Amino acid sequence: MNVLDDMDRIKEIDREDILGIEENFHSQLLEAREIIQKSNLEKLKQKEFKGIAFLGMGGSGFAGDIIKALIKDDINIPVEIVKGYKLPAFVKSDWLVVPVSYSGDTEETISAVNQALERGCEVLIICSGGKLEDIGKKNNKAVIKIPPGLQPRGAIGYVFLPTYLALDKLDIITVNSGDIEEALSLIKQKAKLYSRETGSDRNPAKKLALKISGRLPIIYGTEGLLAAVGYRLKCEFNENSKTPCWCNEFPELNHNETVGWERLKDITKKFILLIFREKDESARVKKRIEVTSNLIKENIGEIVEIQVEGKSKLAKALSTMYLGDMASVYLALLAGVDPTPVEKIKILKEELEKLN
Ligand code: F6R
Repeated sequence: MNVLDDMDRIKEIDREDILGIEENFHSQLLEAREIIQKSNLEKLKQKEFKGIAFLGMGGSGFAGDIIKALIKDDINIPVEIVKGYKLPAFVKSDWLVVPVSYSGDTEETISAVNQALERGCEVLIICSGGKLEDIGKKNNKAVIKIPPGLQPRGAIGYVFLPTYLALDKLDIITVNSGDIEEALSLIKQKAKLYSRETGSDRNPAKKLALKISGRLPIIYGTEGLLAAVGYRLKCEFNENSKTPCWCNEFPELNHNETVGWERLKDITKKFILLIFREKDESARVKKRIEVTSNLIKENIGEIVEIQVEGKSKLAKALSTMYLGDMASVYLALLAGVDPTPVEKIKILKEELEKLN
């Protein structure tokens, strides 16, 4: 029997049950929505901001990526993503700065938020505790506290949804409640389909993992929303499946990477390319994807098109992410690797801590 359909073997490999956490994504989203509904953001309400800067790294940093992609076509102030120590000089006191860190202890995020406080920016903190919570309390800033105890990447519902809905609560954006309902119902429907209980013959997340197994995945999305999802999935394949993976986006990749497939065929034949496709993609994007696939297919083991589901951008992003998140855990199980530990990240953080 395939390991993905062997419940005992799954438990043996996935010692901290990250699969269970992913399977419960729908309930995490429901809980996350309640958290923001109950949050008091009075400290921030009625302020006009000249821009928004999201601070955050890794699993928490993704909240900013996806929110920017969701709102950038509608919002008329700049939205900046800061993934590092330094807050850009143009972020001034009339900006809203949103540090997102699941642990609350990520040094890059703390460095950037301290600069924001020095500049007198308004700050809205999202964390489960740690130094960031202390910074919020000490400076009398709004803090949205999310439940602790998970791997940050497994807490994506907690870090993303309250951050996104906070912008609606602050009247910075308007989130369509129908979009939330659509996303929630799609995730609920997929939870059953992608769960461990659904066999490999019918389960798209298991099927995807089986296709990728033994090959190096590469992900191509279209600029904006699907590029952000592609980056999330690249990180999930890195952290859960412990495999190298990279991602890129149309149309930019057509100006460089497309040419890079010309040599080293003996190596690249071991790669598998996942391309996100949308029913409503523009004629130019459609053409780009088709021409690119034809130009490079000889040099790649396989090209797999992933049909993006959902009507709203939110449903598209969350459901595509969910498929990939689940596939990344199944890929780890196929390799007999515990998906939860991220030993190298831990060692790095400990080594850096020694500098303090
Ligand atoms: C680990 C993970 C990492 C962390 C990153 C930042 O599961 O996803 O990418 O998200 O190291 O830590 P936090 O999220 O605590 O700020």
